[in-house]
Formats: sequence, structure tokens, C-alpha cells
Amino acid sequence: MTPTESLSITLSVNGATVAREVPARLSLADFLREELRLTGTHLGCEHGVCGACTVLLDGEPVRACLMLAVQARGHSVTTVEGLTPAGGGLTPLQAAFQRHHAVQCGFCTPGMLMTATALLAGNPSPSAEQVRDALSGNICRCTGYVQIVEAVMDAAAGAEA
Ligand code: FES
Ligand code: FES
Repeated sequence: MTPTESLSITLSVNGATVAREVPARLSLADFLREELRLTGTHLGCEHGVCGACTVLLDGEPVRACLMLAVQARGHSVTTVEGLTPAGGGLTPLQAAFQRHHAVQCGFCTPGMLMTATALLAGNPSPSAEQVRDALSGNICRCTGYVQIVEAVMDAAAGAEA
């Protein structure tokens, strides 16, 4: 296989089956953004440090800048666009981000939402420490993190109510 070779991939993206020919070395992030125009997945560092590109692969958060699109073949990918409820609007987590002003420039927000979504799916009532630990791989330059942690805790509390 040469680096420029194209390969066929079929995967699920936000619940829809997608089939494409992609260059062997195309990253999953570039595939989502450039090929599928799902630009909610942001690119910051492009080497696995900032978490801006976080998407869910079979429900688990992954760095889309570190994965090749071909590695997602046969898997289920969820991007921030895929969080939107069937009837539109916001998820409880997104609404909590809005209530707590957990967004300033918003660049980190999609990655934060994906990481926190996976956390709450596996642990519906995390401690603040667990939230901080889960989000420790997501860098935010603006909010100071306090409102983000509060928003995740609030969404968890709402889910329990
Ligand atoms: S852009 Fe992927 S971790 Fe920073
Ligand atoms: S809101 Fe600006 S980087 Fe997080």
C-alpha cells in the first residue's frame, strides 16, 4: 500500500451509513471536516494534545486528529452534530453549558461536549473530581474550566431528577 493509495471505507457517522474512497493517510478529522463537511469537529494542535477534535468511536472518546479515516471502517462515529436530539434543540448537557456560560470562544466546546457525553453515559452521577479527571485531556484557553465542570455536574444532576 502506498501513502497516496485510496481505499474504500464504509462506516456509520451520526447514525447514517457513509461509504467513500479515501486516501490511506487521510485523518479521521480531515475526513469528517473536508469530506463530510462536519466542521463542528475542530482542529487545534493536530497532534493529540488539545482534545478539540474529540469524537466518539463506538461511544468512546477518541482524538480524530490521531486516527486515520480508514481505521474507522466498520465503526460508528458520533460528532458534535450527532448530539442534536431528533426533534432539534439542545441536549441537557448542551443546555447546561449554555446556562453556566461554559462557552467563551467555543473552540474547545465540541470536544468538551463529546468527552463529557461519554463520561455521563458511563457514569451518570460523577463527582467533580471525576469530571475534572475526564476533561483533563481537553484544553480550554478561555473559561478557566470552572463553569465547564459546573455545567457537567448540573447536567448529571438534572438527569438524576
Ligand atoms: S486537534 Fe486533535 S488533539 Fe488537538
Ligand atoms: S471556550 Fe475558548 S477555548 Fe474553550
